[in-house]
Amino acid sequence: MKVGVLTGGGDCPGLNAVIRAVARRSFVRGHEVVGVREGWRGLVDGKLEPLGNREINGLLPRGGTILGTSRTNPYKIERVEQVLETFAANGLDALVAIGGEDTLGVATRLYAEHGFPVVGVPKTIDNDLSATDYTFGFDTAVFICTEAIDRLHTTAESHNRVMVVEVMGRHTGWIAVMSGIAGGADMILIPEQPVSVEDACKEIQSRHSRGKDFSIVVVSEGYELGGDDDRAADLDEFGHVRLSERGVGHRLAQEIEQRTGFETRVTVLGHVQRGGSPTPRDRILATRYGLKAADLVQEGRFGRMAALHGDAIVDVPLEEATAELKTVPDDWFAVARAFFG
Ligand code: F6P
Repeated sequence: MKVGVLTGGGDCPGLNAVIRAVARRSFVRGHEVVGVREGWRGLVDGKLEPLGNREINGLLPRGGTILGTSRTNPYKIERVEQVLETFAANGLDALVAIGGEDTLGVATRLYAEHGFPVVGVPKTIDNDLSATDYTFGFDTAVFICTEAIDRLHTTAESHNRVMVVEVMGRHTGWIAVMSGIAGGADMILIPEQPVSVEDACKEIQSRHSRGKDFSIVVVSEGYELGGDDDRAADLDEFGHVRLSERGVGHRLAQEIEQRTGFETRVTVLGHVQRGGSPTPRDRILATRYGLKAADLVQEGRFGRMAALHGDAIVDVPLEEATAELKTVPDDWFAVARAFFG
């Protein structure tokens, strides 16, 4: 068999660990493994390269993706036929698509409309994919944000300041809630919960009236502040707004300073959250997903995605992963809220 592997969408720690696991298990079975460069763009433009033992050496702890990635959407640019042609012309028998909502959305359609032999692996720091408890990359992002919050605590305390920390997560607040709980945030603002700026400021004020002179506020990039939230709506090929351009952290910091009079600073963590080496948990999850994907290929069970249910690696229909956004449930927010103010 000739097995293709591609990584699409935003990169995240653990992608290389999946590639390694898919390749290692496929080599044992005598299969060839081919890397598709830069996500779906590689199949549109015919950018493929063989992967051997040498290429996958040292991949487990390495961040990013050795295959490169892109947000190319073959449906949007009307190059689906080209994807199918490249796949056939290179003698590929199966494809492992490692990606989030967008990459797996394309895989789902290709499988449904063309019987394309694809299996999926759920990746994203946002953890917003349904049908799996966790995506790899998320734990690393939470670790990075927690460390940043810890560091901001000491400087906030020294200067009696409010520190606003803007984290990623797109339209869900998983990173904000988990790193906020782990870092002891005094307020967390996420898209799923309608806490207004006014109420957030009241909490901060009541905390300060109890003798605390500093506060840590974690805000998710997708939190709706109101007003001109959607200005600068630059869209990618999947129609997503670049949320970082809305500058929610800076706007929130201004509001807090104006409403409370407390000196406020903002830190936007940005792509630091996606960089560097994966945590042990993400390395292990990515490895288990990679092995599962290789097994699904071996069994010819296409249109499926590796998923984590509890502590078990299972497989689910690809379309379930992208059917709806997995938002932060109220009970998780309640854990965070117990420490507000
Ligand atoms: O989906 C992962 C993610 O990092 C989001 O959290 C963020 O909104 C987006 O990608 C940023 O995309 P880009 O890397 O294109 O700036």
